[in-house]
Amino acid sequence: MSADPEIGQFAKKKGEIILREHKFDGIQEFDQSLPNWWLFTFYAAIVFFVGYWFIYYGTSLIKSPQLAVQEQIIAVQANQIRELNKLLAKLNDAQLVHIFAKDPLIVAAGQATFTKNCVPCHGVDLSATQDDGHGKKIPLPGLPLTDHNWKFTDKPMGLFNLINKGSPPESNGNNGARMEAWGAKLSPMEIAQVLSYVISKVPEDFKDIPKPEAN
Ligand code: HEC
Repeated sequence: MSADPEIGQFAKKKGEIILREHKFDGIQEFDQSLPNWWLFTFYAAIVFFVGYWFIYYGTSLIKSPQLAVQEQIIAVQANQIRELNKLLAKLNDAQLVHIFAKDPLIVAAGQATFTKNCVPCHGVDLSATQDDGHGKKIPLPGLPLTDHNWKFTDKPMGLFNLINKGSPPESNGNNGARMEAWGAKLSPMEIAQVLSYVISKVPEDFKDIPKPEAN
């Protein structure tokens, strides 16, 4: 359908729609200035951009989202470390045996850590053996933890240090196998939890540890 040139002319005369002279395939384009409110917002946006750009990159008045998140992470970590130091300052034999090892949540968290890190050498049942699927027990590299026999120490904090630092330098290992320092991979809290899990399996080995003093 070809455009009626009369329409353009009429509008032009009325000062409403202005069409450009150029025409192609019967199609013409409007040639009108944009409404002032639109132009105002447009130029205001440009001015705002220049100002914002300067403030954002040139000053430290506005924090980038990355920086804000980083600051929050640092604050959370600092808080975690404070909590941890508070915990470690209080951590002792009595607390491990009588509070931690009896707290189902701590023991469950410890079991999860044990399953993830310790089972390959100490076994699912802490016996340092593994069922070969035919009812035969294959020995694993670690020491059994439920045999009521502690090679280095039977004191909870001593065991904490052993897990944290690994085999003592003077140890010749178990058939030559030594244990690594878990402090490099686990947080002190995770070590306290995993030890609580071990203690909860053999509470009779720690029955001589006196209860914590009420404060
Ligand atoms: C790669 C094998 C291996 C892994 C994994 C391992 N251990 Fe050990 N663990 C050993 C060996 C070997 C010893 C004996 C070390 C020695 O005699 O120097 C040992 C000793 C111990 C002892 C002292 C046992 C005793 O009878 O005195 C405890 C407690 C212990 N491990 C806890 C853990 C915990 C908790 C984990 C997991 C966080 C863990 N181990 C992961 C190999 C391992």
